[in-house]
Amino acid sequence: MPLERVRESMKIGVLSGGGDCAGINAVIRGVVRRATSFGMEVVGIRRGWAGLLESDFSPLTYDDVADALAIGGTLLLTSRTNPLRKEGGAELVMKNAHDMGLDALVPIGGEDTLGVAHGLAERGLKVVGVPKTIDNDLSETDVTFGFDSAINVAVEAIDRMRTTGASHERVMVVEVMGRDAGWIATHAGMAGGAHVILVPEEPVNIDEVCDAIVARRQRGKNFSLVVVAEGARVAVQSGQVTAAETLDQFGHPKLGGIGQLLAKEIEKRTNLETREVVLGHILRGGSPSAYDRVLSTRLGVAAVDAVRRGESDVMVALKGNRIVTVGLEDAIRPKKLDAELLAVARIFT
Ligand code: F6P
Repeated sequence: MPLERVRESMKIGVLSGGGDCAGINAVIRGVVRRATSFGMEVVGIRRGWAGLLESDFSPLTYDDVADALAIGGTLLLTSRTNPLRKEGGAELVMKNAHDMGLDALVPIGGEDTLGVAHGLAERGLKVVGVPKTIDNDLSETDVTFGFDSAINVAVEAIDRMRTTGASHERVMVVEVMGRDAGWIATHAGMAGGAHVILVPEEPVNIDEVCDAIVARRQRGKNFSLVVVAEGARVAVQSGQVTAAETLDQFGHPKLGGIGQLLAKEIEKRTNLETREVVLGHILRGGSPSAYDRVLSTRLGVAAVDAVRRGESDVMVALKGNRIVTVGLEDAIRPKKLDAELLAVARIFT
């Protein structure tokens, strides 16, 4: 199909906020390539909302995004800065966006970043969000980019844990990210053939976990694989396991440590040798999967198209095979794990 060559004098800002993941650079490339094909200008805003508070930005050209497709992380850098929590922050962002001559903004982020985007859209900024998070917990999109890359890394790790676990006849505990949603744990656990999958949505008692492990031994199996989401609630102690006391600017605790706690308890209660590994940020880093490269590219292109149509306070989203736009207010509602998917996983765990 021939490229449409309409010249338009629009300026689009793009930023990435929150935790990074594989595919952000592919989105940025999609935005820049689509926008420049119409003669639009693109500016890259550094460190998420911090860049808009500090007017830290520079132009992004066609050549700036050459080779960005397969590179992990974000060339624009990221932060968890929340301008709506700062006195006068929203007004400053609106002023800076105006002074920068922005006609529209494309924030790439999860519920926090896009929540801010929605707040600014209500104040009159033209915003088209792009759903990004390895946690896959945004509503109104079938999937967020970064998730597929993350579960592929997790499955490779689980496969490796399986062979070493089987050789040593151990219980192997794999902790994966997933703050309030068990999407990563369930997909990675199912794809990796885990024997126990623990998710935030379904609190369990440590005795149930140990009983399942012991029962497997009694069936003659000499090792077990446990996949646990970092936000899972396992009643050894009440609530989630946190690695630090402080909260970030969006009020989230720093999670981590459930894998270690679980491994210790399992070994103590079952007398079976147990080891744990925390995959953590390994799931976020590195190159995007082929699936995420394509999805990210489509989302970046679609965001520019939505801007051109004059849409605002929306997010581009995948529904079936189509990229559509959905309202930001609905999109930022947390997407809990699909009960049907978990029920299928439970047939094997
Ligand atoms: O971006 C979401 C997420 O990956 C969560 O799963 C995790 O709890 C959090 O980021 C970790 O964030 P940070 O890199 O700030 O420690």
